[in-house]
Amino acid sequence: MIPAGAVNAAYLAAAVLFILSLGGLSRRESAARGNLCGIAGMALALAATLLGHDTGPGAVLAAVMLAGGLLGALAAARVRMTAMPQLVAMLHSFVGLAAALVGFATFLNAGDARSAAEQTIFEIEICLGVLIGALTFSGSLAAFGKLQALLSSAPLLLPARHFLNLCMLLACIYFGAVFVGGAPEEKLPALLWVCALALLLGIHMVLAIGGADMPVVISMLNSYSGWAAAATGFMLANDLLIITGALVGSSGAILSYIMCRAMNRRFVSVILGGFGATAGGASGGAKNGDEKHAETITAAETAALLGRASSLVIVPGYGMAVAQAQHPLSELTRRLRELGVNVRFGIHPVAGRMPGHMNVLLAEAKIPYDIVLEMDAINPDLPRTDAVLVIGANDIVNPSALDSEDSPIAGMPVLEVWRARDVIVLKRSMASGYAGVENPLFFRGNTRMLFGDARDAIEEVLRAVDG
Ligand code: TAP
Repeated sequence: MIPAGAVNAAYLAAAVLFILSLGGLSRRESAARGNLCGIAGMALALAATLLGHDTGPGAVLAAVMLAGGLLGALAAARVRMTAMPQLVAMLHSFVGLAAALVGFATFLNAGDARSAAEQTIFEIEICLGVLIGALTFSGSLAAFGKLQALLSSAPLLLPARHFLNLCMLLACIYFGAVFVGGAPEEKLPALLWVCALALLLGIHMVLAIGGADMPVVISMLNSYSGWAAAATGFMLANDLLIITGALVGSSGAILSYIMCRAMNRRFVSVILGGFGATAGGASGGAKNGDEKHAETITAAETAALLGRASSLVIVPGYGMAVAQAQHPLSELTRRLRELGVNVRFGIHPVAGRMPGHMNVLLAEAKIPYDIVLEMDAINPDLPRTDAVLVIGANDIVNPSALDSEDSPIAGMPVLEVWRARDVIVLKRSMASGYAGVENPLFFRGNTRMLFGDARDAIEEVLRAVDG
């Protein structure tokens, strides 16, 4: 085994690498370097842990690491970009499960004698680890179920659900107090109660949150998984795990705040759930739906309109990711720029199904960073824009978010594409988006619908531009 001093130095270096990694990942240009720093930090942390601690029989450890590594590599290689949020939710559940299991294992192998104060702190750590771990585990599984469409994305609204949550929380605190202060024979049953109640609370809290709020739920569970890892760090007296957990916990909390701001939602009201179940319901603003008429446009007409425009804003959404249309789109962008069109991209913070989803896809297709703008930067320019091409996006360009108070997405800032001269919406049908809300944009006088799969349609437009 290497000396404790060397292990601590390696942990410190790994912590610095993790911080550099987070810094790098915050900008597209430095994201690859940030990723490398993260990989190096994790490799260093693993090596120091393996060489500096008694980690039990080598064969068991090697088998477990091999199996975990293989499963992780397979999942990463096979997962589609569109299924990434589910994978992330599943990975968060592992962190929660690990924290809860470490809590029980630490309790059952309590070992050395401690002073009364040390024993109390030790037991509080265990109780918090099990509580946060179990909550993260079941909440992440429920989020996985919703994102994978195994469970309904509509919020589950049990009668008196806030009261129910409060009772479960108070019961957790009661059993936590029994665990810390009670007689030895009461401790294990009390800890099991804390675990069971936290599991129920996690499921109930996430099921009560509607589909439209899922972006916040993902980042919130990300934060919880960080705190669960930090709790594990306290139980195992592992400084690196505490630092890493705190980094993940606080960055997840900041991301939740950014997501809430992007959707004009208050964090507490997201957590309390129920959003997306208003009387206006899924169709918010769907009255008179039968009388409405949407104009259509062909790929050739689209090509002509785009070629004539002097300024074009492209708004990508989830449908572009599903169709993997970013590569022909990159080519179309290049061709239109050669023709003198000022092409820019408008990115909504919750476009797609995970933070930064569109930015990753556009960067993959080598679309220049400097023409990819955030919603707040592009919105003021839209009234002066000749044409907007919306590709597989729906909720993020829905005007009812701004002008219909009973819409389930009321108050969410959106890309105000209807302010441009011409709007072309490319999607396969008139179907609604993730939030299940009808989109009045499709029926506006300056909007035309280009129906088709995003990839096929862009390729057709590209051929018409070239032809
Ligand atoms: P959505 O509102 O989900 O709309 C996507 C549209 O793409 C659909 O209406 C669909 O219409 C179309 N589409 C699907 N496949 C297509 C294909 N192959 N070709 C062309 N079009 C296709 O997406 P958005 O506008 O990006 O908004 C994101 C939504 O997801 C928001 O409600 C957001 O809150 C939620 N959400 C976001 C996140 C994060 S963190 N970004 C996480 C979870 C949930 P057709 O079926 O008619 O083609």
